[in-house]
Amino acid sequence: MSQLKVRELDAPFGADIEGLDPSASLNAADKALLQRTFDERGLLRFHNLDIDADYQQYLAALVIGREGPGPDGAKYDTSDEFFVSNREENAGAPFGRLLYHCDMMWSDNPFQVLTLYGLEVVKPSVPTVFASAANAWATLPTALRARVEGKHATHVTGQQRRAKDDEEGELLQPIRENERWVTRPLPFEHPRTGTPLLYASQMMTRNIEELPGDESEALLEELFEHLYSPANSWQQDWEEGDLVMWDNFAIQHARGAVDSDGPPRTLRKVISPRPSMDTERPTFSKAAGSS
Ligand SMILES: [Fe+2]
Repeated sequence: MSQLKVRELDAPFGADIEGLDPSASLNAADKALLQRTFDERGLLRFHNLDIDADYQQYLAALVIGREGPGPDGAKYDTSDEFFVSNREENAGAPFGRLLYHCDMMWSDNPFQVLTLYGLEVVKPSVPTVFASAANAWATLPTALRARVEGKHATHVTGQQRRAKDDEEGELLQPIRENERWVTRPLPFEHPRTGTPLLYASQMMTRNIEELPGDESEALLEELFEHLYSPANSWQQDWEEGDLVMWDNFAIQHARGAVDSDGPPRTLRKVISPRPSMDTERPTFSKAAGSS
């Protein structure tokens, strides 16, 4: 029997998981429950966990059935421990605002699971927000669906859109030496679950291939309005000891502006599985022309 309790979030995706004891092994029923809930809800949150990067890696692999021998067995490779932080040196996304995206959406092989753990969180802290590409496709109005079905979208490194005038905070601009891109069908079928996804994002989707530039942008705007509507999104207000893990294909993430001089905000980031491809880490600057 599973020791864990699942409580669905007040959103069309996501679940709180209660009763996880990192010092004890998970039994088969616990593992099955976590995997099933991850596939069905796309995002799991745990409160008040005291865990190291190794355990975080163990759970990230476990939810997609790729776990190793367990937290007390062989260690995972956490040598490249990575932080999203306005304090840690060489951290990712150290300041600024991030539009909605999937990590490595521009790659033909993005990783499947993204996890963040609240290591140091001093309030007021900028939340992370999430939107479901799975629920967005499932609830897409018929007329809009007809206009998009069978088309293809191209996803590119960097920042594809500018901030709107009524939006606060400077956009973070990731800089990479080489531009990379991938073209995917709409809907895009989730590689593990087969769920159809409205696979387009504010930050990384450049255009819809079959349409001229202005029509492509107008259609994307309509899709984004649906995808990022309040009914399809959820906000994580960080506490130290929170662990949020989500499906990097089915669920997109974004955040408001983090200030380099603001209260410390350090989230430990662990992904699974590790991409085999060479992944150059971007440097960060403020987006040209954003206000
Ligand atoms: Fe990201």
